[in-house]
Amino acid sequence: MNVLAELKSRFRPALASLVSDAAKVSELLELIRVAQDPKFGDYQANFAMPLGKVLGKSPRDVATQIVTAARLDDLVAPPEIAGPGFINLRLRDEWVAAALRMAATDERLGIDAAKNPRTYVVDYSSPNVAKPMHVGHIRSTVIGDSLARTLRFLGHKVISDNHLGDWGTQFGMIIYGYKHWVDQAQFQTNPVAELSRLYKLVSKLVEYRESLKSLPEAERRLAAKHKEVDEQKTLSKSADKAVSKKANDAVRRCLKQAEELAEEIASLKGKIAAVEQDVSLSKLVQEHASIDEAVLAETAKLHADDAENHRLWHEFLPHCRDEIQKVYSRLDVKFDYEHGESFYHDRLAAVVEDMKKKGLAQESQGAICVFLEGFEAPMIVQKKDGAFLYSTTDLATIAYRMETWQPHAILYVVDHRQSDHFDKLFAAARKWGYDSVELQHIKFGTVMGKDGKPYKTRSGDTVGLEGLLDEAVSQALKVVSENDDANPSGPALSSEERRNISEVVGLGGLKYADLSHNRTTDYEFDAEKMLAKTGNTATYMQYSYARVRSIFARGGIALSVLRDTLLILTHPAERPLSLMLLRFAEALAETEADYMPHHLTAYLFDLTKSYFTFYEYCPVLKADTEGSRTTRLILSDLTARTIKQGLSLLGIGVVEKM
Ligand code: ARG
Repeated sequence: MNVLAELKSRFRPALASLVSDAAKVSELLELIRVAQDPKFGDYQANFAMPLGKVLGKSPRDVATQIVTAARLDDLVAPPEIAGPGFINLRLRDEWVAAALRMAATDERLGIDAAKNPRTYVVDYSSPNVAKPMHVGHIRSTVIGDSLARTLRFLGHKVISDNHLGDWGTQFGMIIYGYKHWVDQAQFQTNPVAELSRLYKLVSKLVEYRESLKSLPEAERRLAAKHKEVDEQKTLSKSADKAVSKKANDAVRRCLKQAEELAEEIASLKGKIAAVEQDVSLSKLVQEHASIDEAVLAETAKLHADDAENHRLWHEFLPHCRDEIQKVYSRLDVKFDYEHGESFYHDRLAAVVEDMKKKGLAQESQGAICVFLEGFEAPMIVQKKDGAFLYSTTDLATIAYRMETWQPHAILYVVDHRQSDHFDKLFAAARKWGYDSVELQHIKFGTVMGKDGKPYKTRSGDTVGLEGLLDEAVSQALKVVSENDDANPSGPALSSEERRNISEVVGLGGLKYADLSHNRTTDYEFDAEKMLAKTGNTATYMQYSYARVRSIFARGGIALSVLRDTLLILTHPAERPLSLMLLRFAEALAETEADYMPHHLTAYLFDLTKSYFTFYEYCPVLKADTEGSRTTRLILSDLTARTIKQGLSLLGIGVVEKM
């Protein structure tokens, strides 16, 4: 039961009798909200003011008229009209009790399945395999998994598809590495480790070459920036205030750009030094002077169906998949499909042909381009040398998904830095005829370190995903052990239990930290903070869940009988918790509306806080009357079940004790 939606449906006819435009009615209904202060009731309808303006009547009169016309009696107490025309709505206790009973006896906690289910394809995780997964991959994996779970729970059909990068340059790298430097004995015993070693080795050498090539240009740009700073500084001394202000702004902007360039140069120099300061690497790079081009050539041969490279690719791919599968199993993430880029390989030529035939793509400076209104640069679908691109594959993927699943929406859970790619892709797809499907780039920010920069290891490397998971789990083990050691009746957990609990708490904490931020912003990785026992963390909720379960264990309570009993709300602290429990549906609807899981985490945080306040004032097992005890047990049970269900939609588990 979604209370807000119910209220809207009760008010709709009354508003529709005054306003003929249905869209306007819906807009006005959006002005029904949860009341910020319980003084003003539980919900508040604020549409009388704008409506009064439109109708040329006093908002208070309009409010009275609507309240009289709407059928509200069973749901709310007689509404109070306040101030200029606010309508304050207080749910009837009987109605709240009945709704809670419905939730308590329902597997789905009273959450209705969508009346018009949609079909969603969710494209997430999608790492480039052959290189180890790193911290950047956690976000796509965790956010995508949570959205898939949530939409599915809401009754939609969800097809999860891991669009693996299994066809790119990284394979050219390991093929090159394998051909020159494989240690066969190692490859036989531990292929994943050996391939990863080869990848790292080749990418170091390639990066060396590329850095050498781009360093002069970067230095030239930095020098030009410094010059620009000097010029603007001179201008800033101008007597003309406007000129001087503009120049000062420019100085600030240029200094920032210069700083970024300097960082870029430092990183290029770092890559060069890493090879030059290593005797064996510098020897290798001399022997393989054009390794960067050679790697591209190996990739091109793979794409051109060269027998040897194809055989190697087939041999490597299963190992690469095993490697990422380890991470997925640990994170409890599953996909319906894993159609990687290679899956679309033989469809790409036809995509380009079709776009050319339809006059959507044309040649420009040797490349085949799609020119799109509103974009400076075109989208290239085939390079001069005949190679297809990431974009071409994504177009083929849209065509395939539309033919195969006829989805209403395709969600791409990908780093915000790919915004330009997706903007163009969607525009091109619409021109190509896919104009009724909802295409959404579900973008997210970067995981930052405590220094406010993208999270890196001390030596400046990207942090491997497995290492990150281990760090969270070992931090959790500390928290769980401390907690158990402080148990007044002595430690109660075996070391194996502690380890298992730590896995759930550690990984849960990590996922939660990611999901609880508005996904479009960057967030800081802080293992300690993300496992804090109080605050907006999964740990706080897992802890509350375990606490409720312990009440039931202590009381030896039969849940099935209990759940079907009518609640009697007596204490004032029971009501806020009851209302909060009923708002689960609203939180899910919010997440569904803008694909932002943080609405759900914010709700779970509010719910957990409400429960603690309730628990402070309302003894449960020792309640005064039998009726009160039962009511409180049901409220506790519902809280635990809602936390468990909510966390599970975030891909996070609970434990019975911790
Ligand atoms: N493999 C890509 C990367 O690591 C992400 C792919 C996202 N999905 C897509 N359909 N483009 O950057």
